[in-house]
This record gives sequence, C-alpha cells and structure tokens, in this order.
Amino acid sequence: MKFELMSLPFEKTALEPYISSETITYHHGKHHAAYVNKLNALIEGGDYADKPLEYIIKYAGGAIFNNAAQVYNHDFYWHGLSKNATSCSVELSDMIIKAFGSEDDFKKLFLAKAAALFGSGWVWLVLTKEGDLSIAEFSNADNPLRHELVPLLTCDVWEHAYYIDYRNGRADYLENWWKLINWQFVSDNLAAIENDPLTGYAQVCNEDNEVCDYVDVMQENERTPS
Ligand SMILES: [Fe+2]
Repeated sequence: MKFELMSLPFEKTALEPYISSETITYHHGKHHAAYVNKLNALIEGGDYADKPLEYIIKYAGGAIFNNAAQVYNHDFYWHGLSKNATSCSVELSDMIIKAFGSEDDFKKLFLAKAAALFGSGWVWLVLTKEGDLSIAEFSNADNPLRHELVPLLTCDVWEHAYYIDYRNGRADYLENWWKLINWQFVSDNLAAIENDPLTGYAQVCNEDNEVCDYVDVMQENERTPS
C-alpha cells in the first residue's frame, strides 16, 4: 500500500489571518508530504507494506512508527480545522462540561497544556477506555492509538506549525488556532465511536488485534469487486 498525502479540506488561504497560506504551503506541502514519502520508502517490501496506517502506528517502532504517526497526526490536524464557524454537538458539549467544568475551563486547560508541552509534540482531546474526555499531551510523534485512547481533536505544537506566522509565540498561535477548530469534526468523531467503535478515526487496534484484523478485512473487501 502506498500512502498518499491527503488533500486539504480547504483552500490554502482559508485560515488567514490566523494561519497563513505560506505556513500551510510548508506545513502541508513540505513537512506533511515528507512524512508520507519517508513512510512509503521505509515500508516498501516489508511487513508493513500492506498494513493500514493504524496498524503500523500500533505495532511499528523507530522511524516507521515516527513517520506513520506523523502522517496520521497531520491528517487529523487538518481535518480539525475549518474556516467556517462550527459548534459542538449537544453530546460533546455535555461531556466537556462534565469533564472540565465548562467549555471555557476546557479551553484554558487545553491551551495551558499545549503552551507548556516541552519541545515538539501534539495535544489531543481524547476519549478514555472508561468513556471520559481527557486532554493528552505527547512528545514528538507519539499518538493516542499507542495509549489505548481514542482521538477526537489535536493541536500541532511543533514549531513548523507556527514559526512563520508567530515566530516563537506559541501562545498566540494557540489562541488563534482555537478560533479555527472544526467542532463538527470533533462532534462527528465522538458520534462515530458511540455508533460504531470500528469506524472512522476510532479504529484502535486492541490487544487481540481484532480491530486491525477487521480493518484489514474491510479494506480487502473494498479492493475486491463483488
Ligand atoms: Fe506539523
């Protein structure tokens, strides 16, 4: 399987003035693309060549894991942004209030954790195995799928995400990134988990590998004409 660089769900200028087209040109067209290309080169002819991205993230190590996770993380990041005003579903809003006290408290905590994350990494809104919302921070390429957490939203705090527009001003980037969150995407992720834990971004390989096996079968069916 050759992975492909995803197409952006918006024009490069759509997120201005908060994220410039120049940033997106480099971030998507150079950094994200490089992870896709490196991953394809690393898995060619090997055990992971025909595996789904989620499987590789769950089981690979070293450079293969790093590049696979960075492909997944960036896919998730772009889908989580929108030029349009969006809102949380009632269910997501209720769960945020239950977990964090209020939507404003959730914002403050999420952005504080993102500002405090040392070095490069990602901050995620996740669903735990217990069914609660939580904020998870991971360094470098590390990813919720490795920690049995279901991702709902992510923020990229690698400097390449904001250095062109904000230089070292990560806090300013974060405040403006918040204005661009696609809450419909977040709400849809939550709804997909509850409707079918094997769909969409909720594909987490469990200990017995049942989910990854299921994904393998589904993808094989898609490739096989009936
Ligand atoms: Fe990035």
